[in-house]
Amino acid sequence: MRYFLLALLLATVATVGVAGFRGALSRKPPIEVFADMDRQEKLRPQVPNGLFPDGRSSQLPPSGTVARTQPMAVGNATVYSFEEGPVTTGRITGTTNFIELNPFPISATFLARGQERYQITCSPCHGAQGDGKGSVSKYGWATIANLHDKRISTQPDGEIFNTVGYGKSTMSGYASHISIEDRWAIVAYLRALQLSRIAGIEDVPADKRALLKK
Ligand code: HEC
Repeated sequence: MRYFLLALLLATVATVGVAGFRGALSRKPPIEVFADMDRQEKLRPQVPNGLFPDGRSSQLPPSGTVARTQPMAVGNATVYSFEEGPVTTGRITGTTNFIELNPFPISATFLARGQERYQITCSPCHGAQGDGKGSVSKYGWATIANLHDKRISTQPDGEIFNTVGYGKSTMSGYASHISIEDRWAIVAYLRALQLSRIAGIEDVPADKRALLKK
């Protein structure tokens, strides 16, 4: 009997000790065997902090920092790259249909920019002429699209813009490498490249036709 009472007492103390005060609130700090990372040096926004010489925790960006979201001038409108609209998606707002025409005004400088970007990014695969015979094709990649295919030259500008940014089957997208404005410049240049193959004599200004016939 004595041993039983002793055992019961021990069992009661052990049970209450382990589980008895669970959920009870106390203002005293808990006994901490391992502190883990409960307390640590850190910067809280908008609070003074001695770590930096100017005493602020929120530092200003270093001078010369380039914003990821520079506004783009599209004609008279200003568009940000995070906005969802025809300029950033290539689609008619609220639909999945591609826009037919490049939203940027086409100028000689815009085309020249597109040519330069095309030659850097696209020509290794599609070739400077756009015929799919870039240097990569010599190493056995046989399915590089010929951009003069009727299927591609009849696509709306928005669809080409989408392909440049997000890829198409075996072609990967270049949205992370090429800014939105540059993607549209490439689309404009690609249109010029395609036109150079399908244009007729009537597309040449009358005073220049004689030069071609020579
Ligand atoms: C690494 C190689 C590579 C690069 C770089 C590349 N492409 Fe492609 N592209 C391909 C391949 C391969 C296909 C064919 C995809 C398929 O149908 O499997 C293709 C297909 C296309 C198509 C046709 C898509 C369709 O509707 O079928 C267009 C338009 C195109 N590329 C434009 C471009 C432009 C513009 C650039 C430059 C920004 C570019 N590509 C860069 C490999 C490349």
